[in-house]
Amino acid sequence: MRYVFRYFVAAFVLTSARGAVFDGETEQDVVEHIQSTLECRHVPGMTVGIIKGNDTWTRGFGTADFKSGRPVDGDTLFIIGSVTKSFTMTLLAIMLTENKLQWTAKISDILGKEYGFIDDYRTRETTLRDLLSHRTGLANPVSGIMAGFPPSITREDLCKRMRFLPEVIPFRDSFIYSNYMYMLLGHVTEKLGGDTWENLMKSRIFVPLGMKSTKVLKNTSDVLASDMAHPYIYKDDSFENSTLDIYE
Ligand SMILES: *[C@@H]1O[C@H](CO)[C@@H](O)[C@H](O)[C@H]1NC(C)=O
Ligand SMILES: *[C@@H]1O[C@H](CO)[C@@H](O)[C@H](O)[C@H]1NC(C)=O
Ligand SMILES: *[C@@H]1O[C@H](CO)[C@@H](O)[C@H](O)[C@H]1NC(C)=O
Repeated sequence: MRYVFRYFVAAFVLTSARGAVFDGETEQDVVEHIQSTLECRHVPGMTVGIIKGNDTWTRGFGTADFKSGRPVDGDTLFIIGSVTKSFTMTLLAIMLTENKLQWTAKISDILGKEYGFIDDYRTRETTLRDLLSHRTGLANPVSGIMAGFPPSITREDLCKRMRFLPEVIPFRDSFIYSNYMYMLLGHVTEKLGGDTWENLMKSRIFVPLGMKSTKVLKNTSDVLASDMAHPYIYKDDSFENSTLDIYE
């Protein structure tokens, strides 16, 4: 009886949520489109969330872990890579509002003399907006990310070494995508927020938004945790384990 009651509650919730987000047969069309895309593009699995007004529709597709056969569901965690940058930017926006600063605030005013760039002009003039817009004109060597950093180097140390990045093109001349400058922006949030970027992410973004399971990865072993979608590559018509080296 209890089981049946639960089933009805679940069925009611699902039906009402679906009805609010989709009209008529749209849901089936969306599901079929997602399924054929997964197959066509060789994507092991994904979660899709659709938000309309106050209603949400969340559904998992495909497989999160081929070894156990665990399917992706609405709670499966995925590595979001550079989408993390938009979280850093949101956190920075909160910090700027609280500290009554603008996007045009200068890095040198916030971080002080221990930090800088290859030339005095950049060190003096670079603003948050320059970093956010990838327009410092400095190199973005991928070797560091591929090879990993020694565990003894802290984020602060690494931020202080940004002064060794060479110039590729003139300041504000054009776009050069830079992972390092977003690390530096993360460090700016630490200075303004008086806590680690990881803690600020949690207390200022995840908790207020109810993102209860979202977390910052700390460890290579976290990548294979039981709530994560595991990484694979598609090769010779099948999925193989992807290397974990990049997460070191
Ligand atoms: C969403 O919820 C809020 C708060 O309950 C309410 O004020 C608002 O009217 C709702 N919006 C829609 C589109 O239903
Ligand atoms: C990283 O993982 C190892 C082994 O799983 C664990 O002993 C260690 O505490 C973890 N480090 C952090 C910072 O969580
Ligand atoms: C793939 O990774 C799993 C752990 O998720 C491991 O148990 C398995 O042995 C790996 N398979 C291969 C072919 O390396």
